[in-house]
Amino acid sequence: MTRPASVWNTAPTSAPAQRKDRYVPGSSAHPAKMHPGIAAHAIRTYTHPGDLVLDPMCGIGTTLVEALHLGRNALGVEYEPRWATLASLNTRSAAQKTGAGSGIVRCGDARHLTDLAPADARGEVALVITSPPYGPSVHGQVRSSRETGAPGVVKKDFRYGHDRANLAHVPTTHLIEAFTEILAQCRTMLRPGGTAVITTRPWRERGELIDLPSAVLAAGKTVGLIPSQRCVALLAGIRNGRLITRPSFFQMKNVRDARRQGTPLSVVQHEDALIFTRPVKALPDPSWPDTAHRSGT
Ligand SMILES: C[S@@+](CC[C@H](N)C(=O)[O-])C[C@H]1O[C@@H](n2cnc3c(N)ncnc32)[C@H](O)[C@@H]1O
Repeated sequence: MTRPASVWNTAPTSAPAQRKDRYVPGSSAHPAKMHPGIAAHAIRTYTHPGDLVLDPMCGIGTTLVEALHLGRNALGVEYEPRWATLASLNTRSAAQKTGAGSGIVRCGDARHLTDLAPADARGEVALVITSPPYGPSVHGQVRSSRETGAPGVVKKDFRYGHDRANLAHVPTTHLIEAFTEILAQCRTMLRPGGTAVITTRPWRERGELIDLPSAVLAAGKTVGLIPSQRCVALLAGIRNGRLITRPSFFQMKNVRDARRQGTPLSVVQHEDALIFTRPVKALPDPSWPDTAHRSGT
């Protein structure tokens, strides 16, 4: 029996290797996909076959595809039509391949999740798994001069679209407010005792640390979710007891630029996975008088 650990060995192979043959063409263009191993680990740990998994900001549908391959049902919402279409195609293809489970993708703003989701899914979700868009340091791809024939490297797929309503474009305080609203909607969708796994990480803006994990932790508590664990989901592999790092071009560049300016940054090789539980019993509403007051005793 494997013992539950707070460090998740989620990247024994690279993300592209884990994605092989599971995604329709065009999917790799999304600038900030979740590592499939992280989604798979959370789904195995917190759900059973037949359960419903929800991602309110599902991008190209990594979490949904992993859920279907593990015999769960999947429901996703994504704001940008381009990614929602790909999520829909990826989900349909996974459902066809596995012959088990059903997948639904809706395009819209997750702040209206409970209106977008099928009515019969409300209060039935076993696991919410998602990651908010964070900071400018998305993953992206590069083409070398050997591939393009042009001098230097060419950046590709490292930004979201230009729609200002995408939360990837808003200032951090606005992102946290909006994500709090999304978590409140997720709480309504979760069944009592259900789990929410939010992957996130801190970043730096002009040298200042933006501690998004702590802000997400506070947001979860605000909406009545109970924080239960804080785990490390590795983006590095482990071989012979050593970490095999797989930094992206952009990570390396950001770290080198920061070091040149005197900030001793390191390459981040994990995501923070914040785990919350929806309480089984409804929390008493502090604004209601209790029974003793009502009966006058
Ligand atoms: C970090 S990415 C998630 C990637 C996804 N896990 C995957 O592997 O493809 C965050 C996603 O949230 C989407 N998004 C931003 N604002 C949103 C909103 N208000 N409602 C729903 N999705 C939103 C972005 O377009 C982006 O695709």
